[in-house]
Amino acid sequence: MNKNDPFSKFDGVGKPLLVDPFGRDITYLRVSVTDRCDFRCVYCMSENMNFLPKADLLSLEELDRLCSAFVARGVRKLRLTGGEPLVRRGIMTLVSSLSRHLEAGDLDELTLTTNGSQLAKYAAELKAAGIKRINVSLDTLDPDKFRTVTRWGSLKQVLDGIDAAQAAGLKIKINTVALKGVNEDEFPQLIEWAHGRGMDLTLIEVMPLGETGEGRIDQYLPLSIIRARLAERYSLTDIDHRTGGPARYVRIDETGGLLGFITPLTHNFCESCNRVRVTCTGTLYMCLGQEDAADLRRPLRASESNELLNTAIDEAIGRKPKGHDFIIDRRHKRPALARHMSMTGG
Ligand SMILES: C[S@@+](CC[C@H](N)C(=O)[O-])C[C@H]1O[C@@H](n2cnc3c(N)ncnc32)[C@H](O)[C@@H]1O
Ligand code: SF4
Repeated sequence: MNKNDPFSKFDGVGKPLLVDPFGRDITYLRVSVTDRCDFRCVYCMSENMNFLPKADLLSLEELDRLCSAFVARGVRKLRLTGGEPLVRRGIMTLVSSLSRHLEAGDLDELTLTTNGSQLAKYAAELKAAGIKRINVSLDTLDPDKFRTVTRWGSLKQVLDGIDAAQAAGLKIKINTVALKGVNEDEFPQLIEWAHGRGMDLTLIEVMPLGETGEGRIDQYLPLSIIRARLAERYSLTDIDHRTGGPARYVRIDETGGLLGFITPLTHNFCESCNRVRVTCTGTLYMCLGQEDAADLRRPLRASESNELLNTAIDEAIGRKPKGHDFIIDRRHKRPALARHMSMTGG
């Protein structure tokens, strides 16, 4: 935040913006509001997860203060994630409170990524709080497979949630993790179902995060193979719909809908990366694929003013790496990173 620093950048009204050493503007913050979840997806968690003690979690007020500090530094998009964000007690208090930044014009978008299990309960409230679009994770439309993949989830509950969200006027994007031998024959059906309901769909490659009790190489299905198979069936037109993230999109001419491919194991998205992630304990990760992190909870709790917090954020953004270090192959049986996806929320 030093006006003489070459990396310092200010907006029209003198707001100090976050720019990393590679000149990338940090405008997107993803916040994991809990590490807990009502599912135990096989690629994300082990069945017997040890969750954090409640005292380690940021309170809803602290989460609000942290998010608001980033908004004051130029973040324009906030995504709440988890764990499952909608199982955090009092989550709507946080959502409603953060929506003031939408009303003030300081935030372009407030959104969330959810497994959909609690949507029937919260859809109307989310819409009323100014949320327009959400991502719902769904890997299969087969109830038995759904139970196998999520270990604890019910497909019907999620489909009811999706119905409720659409009825409330929320726009939905479906996220599907591509799993070898599990849903690989189901993509045409998932695409036609999602596009038939006006929802775009994004396929995600499995990332090597955290021990889950399952082998990654057994789950890993390269999206290049899926794309080639889909191209035999549909006309895919590349479109220039960039989000600053790892997704690349095609339009499927037959359905009119968009299909995204998230290939985190390639490096083709790092140069445009505009995002950082905060865990529910206030740890800031500058890259999903690196261990380096900064503790924001201590400066947040150390004083009521945001000076220490802003210094910690500046130092951390100054260390944002150029790219990630993911690898899945037979020589690397262990996860590339020890932490689970439920810590940083994807
Ligand atoms: C960690 S979840 C958190 C939000 C919410 N519980 C949900 O499932 O949407 C966010 C996204 O990460 C994806 N995910 C979890 N573990 C993953 C892994 N190892 N590789 C790729 N994607 C993963 C999930 O499928 C989901 O779409
Ligand atoms: S992917 Fe989402 S729903 Fe599945 S276990 Fe992880 S946090 Fe829970």
